[in-house]
This record gives sequence, C-alpha cells and structure tokens, in this order.
Amino acid sequence: MNVYDSDHIAYILLSLGYNKTDSYESADLIILNTCSIREKAEEKAFSFIGRLNKLKKKKPDLIIGIGGCVAQQEKEKIFTRMPYVNFIFGTHAISHLPDIIKEVKTGAKKVINTKFTSNIHENSNFNSFNSKQAASKFVTIMRGCENYCTYCVVPYVRGKEISRRPDAILKEINLLIDSGVKEITLLGQNVNSYGKKENLCSFPQLLSMVNDLHRIKRLRFTTSHPKDLTDNLITSFKDLDKLCNHIHLPIQSGSNKILKKMNRKYTVENYLNKIDTLRKRCPDIAISSDIIVGFPGESISDFNETISLIKRVEFDGLFVFGYSDRQNVPSSSFSDKLSEKEKNRRLNALLDIQEKYTKKKNSVLVNSVQHVLIEGFSKKQKTKKTSDKFIQWSGRTSSNKIVNFKVENNSKFNDCYKTGNIVEIKIEKAFSNSLAGIPLHE
Ligand code: 5AD
Ligand code: SF4
Repeated sequence: MNVYDSDHIAYILLSLGYNKTDSYESADLIILNTCSIREKAEEKAFSFIGRLNKLKKKKPDLIIGIGGCVAQQEKEKIFTRMPYVNFIFGTHAISHLPDIIKEVKTGAKKVINTKFTSNIHENSNFNSFNSKQAASKFVTIMRGCENYCTYCVVPYVRGKEISRRPDAILKEINLLIDSGVKEITLLGQNVNSYGKKENLCSFPQLLSMVNDLHRIKRLRFTTSHPKDLTDNLITSFKDLDKLCNHIHLPIQSGSNKILKKMNRKYTVENYLNKIDTLRKRCPDIAISSDIIVGFPGESISDFNETISLIKRVEFDGLFVFGYSDRQNVPSSSFSDKLSEKEKNRRLNALLDIQEKYTKKKNSVLVNSVQHVLIEGFSKKQKTKKTSDKFIQWSGRTSSNKIVNFKVENNSKFNDCYKTGNIVEIKIEKAFSNSLAGIPLHE
C-alpha cells in the first residue's frame, strides 16, 4: 500500500517540477511516507525524521513533509516534537500535496491536512508514469478497512472502506500494460469486500475482467480476510488462467480463544476448511500467512495450538510478528500483556518450525520446470557489463517463489532474457528463501 502511495507522491512531485536525487544532502524537499502498523515501523520513522534536523540546520530552506499513517495518527503532535517539519499530510491528503507545498513555499509555517474524505480521488495515470522497466506493479482497488481487528491501527489511520470504480482500475492497468508491465497485484486491506458498499461488481467479477485483458500475463491480489474468502473466489483460482497460484491468507493465531479476542470473526476450523477447499480445487496452490505471537492473554497452550496449526497447514511462507501495542486500539487496554523476551522466544520458535516447511515446499520444486517472470538482475549482479561471461537474473514462479539463475552473456540469448519476460527454468536447488535453476533455452 505504501509503495503505491509513494509512487503517487513521486508522480505529483515530478509534475511540480522536482527531480529525483540519490542523496538527502542535495534535496530541496524531503517527504517521508510513514507506516504505523507496528511500533518498530513508527520508531524507524521518528528516528529518520530526527536525523533530518541536522540537515535542516545546515540547509534552512530544505522543506520537510511527513505523510502516511504516522502523520494521520500523530497529527500536529509531530510539529511539537519536531518543529523543523514544514508540513504534515494524512493518508487521504496525497492529492492535496500541490496546494500544501505551494502554501509552504509562499511562507506558511506548519501546514497540515489530515482530514478524511468520503470519496476517492481518481488518478489512473500516475502509476504507469513510474513503471518503466518494471515487470510487476501494484494497483490499489480500495482504501480503508472496517473490520476492526482489536490489535490493528488501520481502520483508524486509513479510514472507512471505499472501493474504486472498475473502469478507473481497468484504465490504470491498461496504461501499465502499455508501459511494459506484465504482472498486476490488486491491493486492498480486504479485497473480498471490494465493491460491496458501493454496489459495484464483486471481487471475483473484477478479477475476471482483469484476466480478460489479453496483454496481461499474470494477476495476483492481496489481502484476503479468511472470514470473507468466498467459494467464488476460490473457484477463480481454477477458472482464471492468469491468476497466479498463490494466496496470502493471514490466520494471526491458531487458538480460537485468541482469534475471538482479536475480533477476527472466524475459527481455526473455518480456516482449515477453506485451506482444504483451496487445495482441492487448485492442488498446486501456494499458501502464505501472517501470525501475531504474544497477543495479550496468549497462554502456552494457545501458543501450542498455533504451532499445531502451522504443522497441519504446512504454509509455503509465513510472516511472524510479535504483538505490538498500538495507540487507541482496543487490545492496548487488554490485560495479561507478555514480556518482550517471551514474545521474542515465541517468534523465534515459530520461525524455526516454519523454516523446515518453507524448505520442504521449495524442495518439491527441484527438477521441475517453472515459468519464471524475470523481475531484474539478481542481488549479485549489480550492473550488466559486456565483459561479463554470465548475467545473473532473478524472477518469480507463479507460486511467488524467488528463482535466481544465470545466463551466458551473448547476443543469442540477450533478447530472451530481460525484465518482464517469462522464461522456463529447470529448478536445481532449493534454499529457505529462494530457488536456483538453469534456463532451458534450447
Ligand atoms: N502487532 C503485531 N502485528 C500486527 N499486525 C497488525 N497489527 C499488529 C500489531 N498491533 C500484523 C498482522 C497483519 C500484518 C500486516 O501486520 O499480522 O496481518
Ligand atoms: Fe487491520 Fe487487516 Fe483487520 Fe483490517 S482486516 S483491521 S487491516 S488486520
């Protein structure tokens, strides 16, 4: 979500005549787009803003703006804590940036806009502006969330749920495809509620419309709330040829007691039923999830239930977070908080268990041939030089696994191997976070 918003901010700045720079020292304007989902992200944002004070002292004309969820949550408190900040804009105020920056430049001190709006400002053009050479891009289809999980700050900092019109979404995707993008990930806090409030089409209908755009090669979405994962959406994995065989389905806990306290509105049994149906309809589907450990009141037996769930499901990938108290969310006033030490112990225990499953899932692919969408050079290959004997590329399988491979650097192959192409790779090795293979170009 933040990558998408940052691209929008960058587009606005470019259209105001600003250019990108690689160093903070040479910037005339610095905007920090912040996240407040967990305490660590918020601390990181504040420590970055803190460091900018030194720069501002050296360069008093530097304009500093803070946007995103921390701005939305802290509002003018940021000015009190960091008086050298020039402006603050909330999650609904990105499109007001031109006016905000104009006010600052004409002498206004401490400009702030953190108002929530009930409409979505449509701009289908900005995304493709920034997408040169990108194989894959995000497209936001809705904003906000009204699920009110008790630990989560999103409903308070991103506001009520609102969906974009399908024609605006399709226009944005067509522009991205024109600029060379091959894979689109549709984004929303809970894509399954897409269009419900506004009486637009359903999410599976939207997916089908995007699938019909013949120049698109791959389609993904995130995130789907387990309580709303409908049969129709599960069937989409079978019916839509471009929908990749991966779903991210956050469970958060393997204990019904904790799920209830989290206000997740499903049980472990409901979740497992959906996993079974997904695997029945789409046997190759890769499933990943999020888990919060150390939620207030999580006993050892609750935690052990989470371990049992992980063992039962065998996820392809898992993100584990230690519970983090967020301002004004219901769980921050719950009793029986766990110590940081215990949360870390549980977090590491889950990561240890999961590592085995991730590796197991990756190992199953050894000796198979995978279609890999090339995303760019691998981390090892910084630039491409004519003197290089091999070029190291990196891409993803439909099941969202990273594949690294190298190709001889000669003109015969250079046309087939470039960002955005889908190539066949024979998988030779499996690691915990990636696969390695060889190209099948003959
Ligand atoms: N503490 C820890 N993890 C959290 N998440 C959301 N809020 C919190 C919190 N207060 C995690 C959830 C969610 C992911 C995006 O972040 O697992 O799925
Ligand atoms: Fe937060 Fe997701 Fe729950 Fe919405 S559905 S409140 S974004 S965890």
